[in-house]
Amino acid sequence: QAPLTLLGLESSCDDTAAAVVRQDAKGVSILSSVVHGQAEMHADFGGVVPEIAARAHAEKLDLCVIEALDQAGLDLRDLDAVAVTAGPGLIGGVMAGVMMAKGIALGAGLPLVGVNHLAGHALTPRLTDGLAYPYLMLLVSGGHCQFLVVRGAEDFSRLGGTIDDAPGEAFDKSARLLGLPQPGGPSVEAEAAKGDAKRFAFPRPLLDRPDCNLSFSGLKTALLRARDGIVAEKGGLTRADRADLCAGFQAAVADVLAEKTRRALRIYLEEAPGTPALAVAGGVAANQRIRAALEDVAAEAGAVFTAPPLRLCTDNAAMIAYAGLERFGAGQRDGMDLSARPRWPL
Ligand code: KG4
Ligand code: ZN
Repeated sequence: QAPLTLLGLESSCDDTAAAVVRQDAKGVSILSSVVHGQAEMHADFGGVVPEIAARAHAEKLDLCVIEALDQAGLDLRDLDAVAVTAGPGLIGGVMAGVMMAKGIALGAGLPLVGVNHLAGHALTPRLTDGLAYPYLMLLVSGGHCQFLVVRGAEDFSRLGGTIDDAPGEAFDKSARLLGLPQPGGPSVEAEAAKGDAKRFAFPRPLLDRPDCNLSFSGLKTALLRARDGIVAEKGGLTRADRADLCAGFQAAVADVLAEKTRRALRIYLEEAPGTPALAVAGGVAANQRIRAALEDVAAEAGAVFTAPPLRLCTDNAAMIAYAGLERFGAGQRDGMDLSARPRWPL
């Protein structure tokens, strides 16, 4: 098989990214992966502002591409194709990426490959660990939460997902309620380490239903009520109150994710030949308590557990280049009519 080298572009949320990935006889390697985050631009607004994000992507994409090619020691002539996130995501950013990719494809005479952002996340364990199909993927980030059985580069079945907030979003909102810094996940985790998870009884939403759907917005409301209860009683929160609230909240998220993963594994195991595998991706997979709970669930079911390194769990372009590489290797490519899609379920 001839070596394949792809440039990937990602601009669907608040990270502008470009990467070069190569597949040859030795396997797959990431030659470069450049990510320019926009967190500080959105910090004052309590969330990603689409217009600001789109402008920043349009300004940064070309620089990211130059940096990625530079770090890989390549130029456009060394590439076999350009892959780009074509959705789902904030439309202005996705359009900026798709237009940049089309410009490069036209200018350098390269084929264009559109990639679904979620497929990029879902295929990452193949890039990092060479995981074989099929496997069960739990995608848990600030924007996503779903269980996918991954059978091929374009063959996914969704077993369930959140019906409201993503868990990362719940961590972020909870941190805001407690006056902790953003992103909320790491700050809540740090507080939780000092707290008593048993002091507050947080709900375990949707565990009474047999399916693989999840809900996190009620948890955040429960945290708000508990906080207001303490404030009404004592006039404010002590450090210990804050730590106990964080510990209780985190334990509830971990329990719900673990139990729903147990159910999803059961469904997936009915069809999985060979060694079953559970993979997680997304920023929330960085949480040690949650990770440990998921590892236990995998071990219980006799499944291999894989979690890509954090920089490849969160938004990046190496996963887009890799997903593009799988599509391109299978003979697929897109034309200049490739469109940017705000919504694009797998
Ligand atoms: O995957 P990601 O970088 O971005 C997308 O949402 O696509 O995930 C970011 C999310 C944020 O909501 C952040 O609070 C959460 O992941 N996160 C964590 C931890 N580290 C990051 N949540 C819980 N515990 C953590 N240690
Ligand atoms: Zn993402």
